[in-house]
Amino acid sequence: MEPIIRFEQVSKSFGDQAVLRDFSLDVFPGEFLTIIGRSGCGKTTALKLVNGLISPDSGRILVQGKDVAESDPVALRRRIGYVIQSIGLFPHMTVEKNIAYVPSISGMAGWKGQDRREKVSALLTQVGLDPALASRYPRALSGGQRQRVGIARALAAGPEILLMDEPFGAVDEITRGQLQEEIQTIHRENGITILFVTHDIDEALKLGTRVLVLDQGQIQQCDAPTAVLRQPATKFVADLVNQQRRSCVYTDDCSI
Ligand SMILES: Nc1ncnc2c1ncn2[C@@H]1O[C@H](COP(=O)(O)OP(=O)(O)O)[C@@H](O)[C@H]1O
Ligand SMILES: [Mg+2]
Repeated sequence: MEPIIRFEQVSKSFGDQAVLRDFSLDVFPGEFLTIIGRSGCGKTTALKLVNGLISPDSGRILVQGKDVAESDPVALRRRIGYVIQSIGLFPHMTVEKNIAYVPSISGMAGWKGQDRREKVSALLTQVGLDPALASRYPRALSGGQRQRVGIARALAAGPEILLMDEPFGAVDEITRGQLQEEIQTIHRENGITILFVTHDIDEALKLGTRVLVLDQGQIQQCDAPTAVLRQPATKFVADLVNQQRRSCVYTDDCSI
């Protein structure tokens, strides 16, 4: 199978700080890849290389076989949804306009009037929200609702890839559990490829079909969650996993 995303010996530094070093990775269609590592280890940088917000110093990133450096940024954004922790909804636009933003700016057909209302209703339902929220402004939503609108907006143009950067970091535990289940359902039903950054090992193991552990700009392990748990490849991974085992003692949630 052809990878949907390929990092080919990618290096990226900021000033004299090497963030990613000779980073190579293939992501296959339909994978839910979780990326975990300490703050500052290069997780956000890796995601932004995929949608072209950052360019590599050397190496290439291919999306569906095409070099990101040679791709049209607008077309790329339509194919790649992006969800971040701070959401970034436009405060002066209703929920409906926020969700319709990418399809509208990229001139996609079928996003006007009644068609738009119907598409937005379907997306709101898909992320577990009442379609009646379409006419509200972001300030009149809870944090969890806003996060769901952010996901609906990222899905609006029907992307093949979804990049999620610590999307559930700022919501309470209960909402977080619900959002995790919803994103799993969306993944299952849409067959979309997801790259999901988190600093929470429980979340990484629960959601990922494959878990990538990053440290010092290099891949420590990239494996199925059970393999990461049972055969940690490095001491760094073993320490992370032990941290997860310890937290199980308290939460009684050893589902893996
Ligand atoms: N635009 C930038 N300019 C300078 N340094 C940056 C920039 N973006 C990120 N960095 C640095 O690169 C490192 C990796 O950042 P990032 O990928 O955001 O880490 P993570 O998402 O894993 O927390 C950090 O030390 C960060 O300070
Ligand atoms: Mg980050």
